[in-house]
Amino acid sequence: MSAPEQPTITSAYRSVGVTFQSLVCNSDVFRKTLSLAASAATKDVAILLLGETGTGKNLIAQAIHNASRRREKPFVSVNCSAIPDTLLEAELFGSEKGAYTSADKLRKGKFELAHGGTLFLDEIGDMSPVAQAKVLRAFEYKQFERVGGEETLHADVRIIAATNRPLEQLLGGGRFREDLFYRMNEFTIEVPPLRARREEIEPLVQAFIRECNERFGTRIRGVDAPALIRLKAHPWPGNVRELRAVIKRACVSAGGETIRAEDLRLSPTPTSSDEIVPVGSDATLAGVEARHIEKVLNQTGWNKKETSNLLGISRPTLDRKISEYNLRKPS
Ligand SMILES: Nc1ncnc2c1ncn2[C@@H]1O[C@H](COP(=O)(O)OP(=O)(O)O)[C@@H](O)[C@H]1O
Ligand SMILES: [Mg+2]
Repeated sequence: MSAPEQPTITSAYRSVGVTFQSLVCNSDVFRKTLSLAASAATKDVAILLLGETGTGKNLIAQAIHNASRRREKPFVSVNCSAIPDTLLEAELFGSEKGAYTSADKLRKGKFELAHGGTLFLDEIGDMSPVAQAKVLRAFEYKQFERVGGEETLHADVRIIAATNRPLEQLLGGGRFREDLFYRMNEFTIEVPPLRARREEIEPLVQAFIRECNERFGTRIRGVDAPALIRLKAHPWPGNVRELRAVIKRACVSAGGETIRAEDLRLSPTPTSSDEIVPVGSDATLAGVEARHIEKVLNQTGWNKKETSNLLGISRPTLDRKISEYNLRKPS
C-alpha cells in the first residue's frame, strides 16, 4: 500500500483563546445555543454540533474545550472532508514506520495527540463507514492501533463532532452509522443560521470592521444606514463566514471612512427575493397574487390559455382576476 502525500501531522497544539465571552452574541436564540454549550462543556460528554456551514461550529468547539477541565491539554482538530479516505485512518490513529512505502518514520495520529484533551472531528458526515467503525471503537473502548502497527494504544479524549448536513440526510441515506451517531449524540447542539438571528448582524459587522482596521491599517468607522438595511435583509447562505468576507472586501475597497451599500457588492440571490418582502411593498396575499399573475401573463406574452394552465386556474377565473386586480398588458 502506498500513501500519497500525507498531510503533516504537527505536534498537538493548544486551542487559541476562543471563549464563550469572545463570541459575538446578541440574540436570544444564539444565547440559548451558547448557554447549552457552556453547560455541556463542564460535563465531559461527547458533543455533536449541527448547523450550516459558517455558523460558528469550529469556534464553539474551541470555546467548549476552553471551558472544560481539559483546557490545559491539547485541542486537536481533524477536518474529515478534507482528507482522502485512504489517509484518514493514518491521520486519526497514526502510522508505523514502513506502514506505507513512503512512511519513513512513525507518525502519531490525532487521537494520540489529543490525549487528555479534546478531539474535534469536523464534517464527520463526510467520513466513510469504514473510518466510522474505527472511530467508534477508539471512542467506545479508547483503543486503537496505528496503521501498520500491532500494539494497542489508549487515548483519553473528549470528542466534539460537527456536521453541516441535516440530521435526516445524515442518517436517512445510511451514510452515517447509527451506532456511532447514538454514541456521538450524548449531547446535540444546533447552531442556528445567521438569518435566524439577524440581531447579531450589526455587532458582527462592527467586530469585523475592527478586525480589518487592525489587520489592514484601514480606518473604517462603520456602515451607513442603507448598507445596514441591505446587510440585514441578505439571506446569508454562507452565514457568519460569508458576512466576514463581505465586510473584509468592503473595508479594503471602500473609498472613505464609511462602508456604503454599493461597497458591499451583495448580489441579490433567488433566496433573498423569495424570502424578503421589499420595504413598502404590498405584502397582502392579494397583492402577491396580483404580482404573480402579472408575471406569468408577461412571461407568456399575455397568452391567457397558457397562463391559466400554468397557474392551474380556469380561463374565466383568470379573466375575473385580471379585471379584479386591474392588470393591463404592457403597451
Ligand atoms: N459568534 C461569532 N462571533 C464572531 N465571529 C464569528 C462568530 N461565529 C462565526 N464567526 C466567524 O465566522 C467564521 C466561521 O466560523 P466557523 O466556526 O469556522 O463556522 P463553521 O465551523 O460552522 O463553518 C469564523 O472565522 C469567525 O470569524
Ligand atoms: Mg467548520
